[in-house]
Amino acid sequence: MTPAYRLLLCGFLACALAVALLLLRVTAPYGRHARRGWGPAVPAPLGWFLMELPAPLLFGALVLWGEGPQDAPTWILLLLWEAHYFHRTFVWPLRLRGQRKPLPVLVMLMAIAFNTANAWLNGAWLGWMGPGYPEAWLLDPRFLAGVALFVSGYAVNQHSDRILLRLRPQGTQGYVVPHEGLFRWVSCPNYLGEIAEWCGFALAAWSLPALAFALWTAANLVPRAISHHRWYRRTFQDYPPERRALLPGVL
Ligand SMILES: NC(=O)c1ccc[n+]([C@@H]2O[C@H](COP(=O)([O-])OP(=O)(O)OC[C@H]3O[C@@H](n4cnc5c(N)ncnc54)[C@H](OP(=O)(O)O)[C@@H]3O)[C@@H](O)[C@H]2O)c1
Repeated sequence: MTPAYRLLLCGFLACALAVALLLLRVTAPYGRHARRGWGPAVPAPLGWFLMELPAPLLFGALVLWGEGPQDAPTWILLLLWEAHYFHRTFVWPLRLRGQRKPLPVLVMLMAIAFNTANAWLNGAWLGWMGPGYPEAWLLDPRFLAGVALFVSGYAVNQHSDRILLRLRPQGTQGYVVPHEGLFRWVSCPNYLGEIAEWCGFALAAWSLPALAFALWTAANLVPRAISHHRWYRRTFQDYPPERRALLPGVL
């Protein structure tokens, strides 16, 4: 690890902590939490496409054109990352057509900065900065558990987002209480799935940049899940009282 890389990584980790503290006080102003005073906005599909694009492109380019994946675990980590980000960048925006709240340009720019830094740190690590993996890593319990956690989180995230996107009647911008799937137990299973995915990736990659990414994801999504949960309770008198924000029975 070069000194410059170490410095960037430390800065990235420190930002995750700062972001968590900030987002516990100020809810990111998009979706149901959109409000005046955050500048111009773009249509949600365009915003999501632009802000996610650096993640699959930069990460893929760095891993493939660094020294290239030299071992099977690196290929698998590349596949997991691209499976998530191909969907998020190219498929998710298409599914957002219709009555979606516009995305503030400021939120989009912050997400572009995050995705660029994150893709660079993780792509450079897998592409040439890190030590690579021995073939035996394929059977290491950390790798196997990490891949299983990623795949389960991916399935939960996709399934829960699919439920949410079907809730809104055509031509409306309102919200409906979800009851299907893991929504029976928590308000934000899509965020739970996303956090599980990147914790799984960090376990399988067993690297500091992947751990930093998992912490960033939690820093973003734990406060947002709490905000969503409070919003549901404020908005719907009959909101199921036993439902928690993110973790069944815990939070
Ligand atoms: N890795 C990260 O740091 C990170 C950060 C943010 C998001 N994400 C991921 O990106 C995806 C989308 O995030 P998000 O924050 O937009 O999620 P969200 O607030 O749950 O909304 C998802 C979509 O469903 C709609 N929706 C949500 N609840 C609804 C309800 N009760 N009734 C009707 N429609 C509803 C939203 O419409 P509106 O937009 O009009 O509210 C939006 O189009 C998730 O999978 C999340 O995990 C990841």
